[in-house]
Amino acid sequence: MSLSLLVASADDSLRELVRDLLLNMPNGRVVNEYPEVSPNLYIRVLQDLERHPDAALIVDISSDPISGIKALEKLRQAVPDIYIIAADYSTDGDSILLTMRSGANDYMLMPVKRADLRDAISRLERAPRRHAGSTASQLARVYTFIGTKGGVGTTSLAVNFASVLAQRKQNVVLVDVDWHANDVCMQLGLQPQYTLLEVAENLNRMDQALFEGFVARDPIGFFVVGPPESLETGRGYFNEPTLREFATFLVEKYNAVVFDGGNDMTDELVQGALQVSSTVFLVITQDFPAVRNAQRYIAYLMRLGFTADQIKIVVNRYNKMAGSHVATLEQIQQTLNQTVFYGIPNSPDVGQSINKSRPLVADRQLFPEMDKTIRAFVDKATGGKPAMAKSA
Ligand SMILES: Nc1ncnc2c1ncn2[C@@H]1O[C@H](COP(=O)(O)OP(=O)(O)OP(=O)(O)O)[C@@H](O)[C@H]1O
Ligand SMILES: [Mg+2]
Repeated sequence: MSLSLLVASADDSLRELVRDLLLNMPNGRVVNEYPEVSPNLYIRVLQDLERHPDAALIVDISSDPISGIKALEKLRQAVPDIYIIAADYSTDGDSILLTMRSGANDYMLMPVKRADLRDAISRLERAPRRHAGSTASQLARVYTFIGTKGGVGTTSLAVNFASVLAQRKQNVVLVDVDWHANDVCMQLGLQPQYTLLEVAENLNRMDQALFEGFVARDPIGFFVVGPPESLETGRGYFNEPTLREFATFLVEKYNAVVFDGGNDMTDELVQGALQVSSTVFLVITQDFPAVRNAQRYIAYLMRLGFTADQIKIVVNRYNKMAGSHVATLEQIQQTLNQTVFYGIPNSPDVGQSINKSRPLVADRQLFPEMDKTIRAFVDKATGGKPAMAKSA
């Protein structure tokens, strides 16, 4: 049976010890590490459990036991059935009892000795396992759109996907992390005053009112934030850890977060978006370079821990009758060893809606056929049932 661990500790040597021990266990692996035990640890854990539902957690509360206990309580509340091993310096019975009552299943004394860790892990192995979906997550669904080449329609799909969700009364945030292309606002006809740089600058005092006060809102109702307009402006403080911190805020407050990830999966921001995503839409076209790249992208996503059903292949500009110079649906599925999730037909409507700077689905009368297709795609991706909207 596999053993997946999440490790939250400010102590490098503890994290290293866990990694090291699991290296020698054939089915063991550390699926994520958090270098601090923050009050929002439970959000990160919930996100990671989406991809690794049977993971257990080691929480070292020693750097700040009072807030560590609070983080434990929140975790236990959010994920009642996760197995938690707490670690602290205290040998005092009362404080160990408090730690256990706050939600720990087991306790290790710091500095943790290899033998103690091994014992704790064997107790964990004997404990009952969590099952996928055993906790209904209150967090936003996070969807990332990635093209396996430029120009395959990643932005159009991300924009229309967010639009349909918002039309269904979901609270949605569309985040453009394709720094150079920066096409989301262009497709929406928005010229926002504030960007991801201001998000980074204000993250430590961010709340919903502040966020919604300064980011752009599309008339359909979703919020939009992306890179600055000028190409020479760098990313400033908006790096991968900032993005993850920002995502932690978003998933707690909204129903859905949609990332336009462009087509560079090695970009640190795209990697950050992937880390918090529950679904990745890999947008391809039927041409061979796009399909070949999809193979590499899928392999990479799998190495990041995504399962095949979390990676959804969308063939855009699909044409059943296309000639021999492009791949057929069967060839694509065979090459990728995966079923295609959806095919979106080639249609001039997409270009026309971009020229109008409005999402295709904004007005159902304008492009009825494509509108229907896109809604059906969103239905399939979301199970067709909008979750309860979180109050603003
Ligand atoms: N289904 C479709 N049918 C016809 N044209 C399409 C379709 N989807 C996208 N396009 C066209 O492809 C072009 C690129 O679309 P879009 O900007 O959404 O792609 P992208 O992958 O985000 O591109 P980039 O690499 O520049 O970010 C646009 O001109 C758009 O009109
Ligand atoms: Mg784009």
